[in-house]
Amino acid sequence: MSVFASSTLQAFIVGGNRGIGLEFVRQLLANPQVSHVYASHRQVPSPDLLQLTVAHPDRLTLLSLDITDETQIQQAISHIQTQTDRLQLVINCVGILHETRPEARPEARPETSSRSESSLQPEKSLQQIQSDRLLRYFQVNSIGAVLLAKHLLPLLKLDRSVYACISAKIGSIGDNQIGGWYGYRASKAALNMFIRTAAIEYSRKAPKAILVLLHPGTTDTQLSRPFQRNVPPEKLFSPQRTVSQLLSILENLQPEDSGSFFSWDGSRLPW
Ligand SMILES: NC(=O)c1ccc[n+]([C@@H]2O[C@H](COP(=O)([O-])OP(=O)(O)OC[C@H]3O[C@@H](n4cnc5c(N)ncnc54)[C@H](OP(=O)(O)O)[C@@H]3O)[C@@H](O)[C@H]2O)c1
Repeated sequence: MSVFASSTLQAFIVGGNRGIGLEFVRQLLANPQVSHVYASHRQVPSPDLLQLTVAHPDRLTLLSLDITDETQIQQAISHIQTQTDRLQLVINCVGILHETRPEARPEARPETSSRSESSLQPEKSLQQIQSDRLLRYFQVNSIGAVLLAKHLLPLLKLDRSVYACISAKIGSIGDNQIGGWYGYRASKAALNMFIRTAAIEYSRKAPKAILVLLHPGTTDTQLSRPFQRNVPPEKLFSPQRTVSQLLSILENLQPEDSGSFFSWDGSRLPW
């Protein structure tokens, strides 16, 4: 039976500040079956997220959380535990493909350094590989998700529940035909392995929980914006379309689906 069969569904959207995560927050709040949504943001909440707190003051709680800091993960989950002992749905929407780090902002840059030296961009060739940038991809895209799995277990073991992580088809090793984007690809492949492995441990320790990986399809967000030029319009989804497609996958999950990697249309992707 689907987690959406519950009339008091409580959800936690990690990375709910913008893009796909923000749209999950919006669509869940529009569903009367959802009694409460916890949404995390990294620094200052976006105006869109703040607007939702004004519209739903009793059903939305904001939590500050940088996924690269395990203490912040623990603190956010401890805060949820002061309100409830269970969640039925957790969706981790955190991810980076490109990033301008504080030291890459013009005001913080010495005259000699260039923007491309200190900002994170997907690598087109082996010559562009740098270990600190690979580590950043893994910290944000892979390690945060398995730390969440570590700390969420008590909240996910009481009821039928789902922990979904937004992965990417580009992290499929079997599907890799064109190469490039080493760090993003490898960090999503690692995410897939972490969640598949956690699903096996959860099947023993929290057997009512289903853990899955979801490929959203190319979606019009800040993450994809610099790379949309060659995407045909019919293959570029709005966040609204992406989220309603992913929610219908989540609604139909069965216990035996735990540990699987689904595409936006419900088909299974190769590892
Ligand atoms: N858009 C696509 O075409 C596409 C395709 C395949 C897969 N995906 C995946 O879908 C997921 C959502 O991406 P999106 O398109 O919605 O991108 P987005 O609009 O750029 O949103 C990224 C989210 O990640 C959060 N984030 C980044 N670094 C973080 C950190 N260190 N700690 C906590 N939160 C952090 C951001 O929070 P702040 O707002 O606080 O920065 C934001 O909420 C990602 O995992 C992405 O890889 C997207």
